[in-house]
Amino acid sequence: MKYDGLSILLHWLTALLVITLWALGQSLSFFPKGAPRLTALSVHMVLGLLIAAVILVRIGWRSSAGRRLPAADEGFLNLVAKGVHYGLYLLLVLTVAFGVARAWVHGLHVFNWFTFHRPAFATPGIIYIVSETHSDLADLLVIVAGMHAAAALMHHYVMRDSVLKRMLPRRDAQ
Ligand code: HEM
Ligand code: HEM
Repeated sequence: MKYDGLSILLHWLTALLVITLWALGQSLSFFPKGAPRLTALSVHMVLGLLIAAVILVRIGWRSSAGRRLPAADEGFLNLVAKGVHYGLYLLLVLTVAFGVARAWVHGLHVFNWFTFHRPAFATPGIIYIVSETHSDLADLLVIVAGMHAAAALMHHYVMRDSVLKRMLPRRDAQ
């Protein structure tokens, strides 16, 4: 028994987007100031809005027709795995929400497609808190996802069970 095709596709799309967004966010300061940096920032925001859509579809699919599999672990480990999975969903939603808030309080342009109009309450203090929160959440997301990936690899290489395989896009082992 493995996850359905759409769940698998959305899982790996989310993982790819998180890694790309984090790496691009960290390297923004390496782009020369002016047009190159603004373009990189716009790409970051467009990918950020794309991951928001992917997460919404994933949550909608999971809570309706998407296949949910029996727990991979038992007892305490099962609780930890559940906590990590829900924690990842929560971190994804919060990181995206604070990313949008960050773009909004800065009043940024996304290419010349549209502008987040800076609200009157965006004082330097608010801008600082929102920016730091987005950065910290993004770092925490990557750390927790790294631990989650390590657990999946442990299942595969140490416990030698089928937990990783059920999230892999293979035709066999339905
Ligand atoms: C940023 C990266 C990642 C994120 C945000 C992420 C997120 C998630 C979430 C939220 C679930 C729960 C699915 C559900 O029940 O709805 C999940 C399941 C899973 N993920 Fe990831 N994941 C990431 C990377 C990875 C990587 C790199 C691997 C493998 C090395 C992996 C392997 C798995 C497996 C095997 C499951 C199914 C676990 C089970 O059935 O109990 N994930 N992932
Ligand atoms: C999972 C999704 C996301 C991840 C992992 C992520 C990650 C990051 C990281 C690592 C940084 C650099 C932090 C720093 O050191 O200051 C950053 C900056 C930023 N992000 Fe995101 N981000 C995500 C989503 C979004 C979204 C949806 C938006 C807005 C639509 C956004 C807007 C921004 C902005 C405006 C900056 C500041 C760039 C600057 O002025 O230097 N992010 N992000």
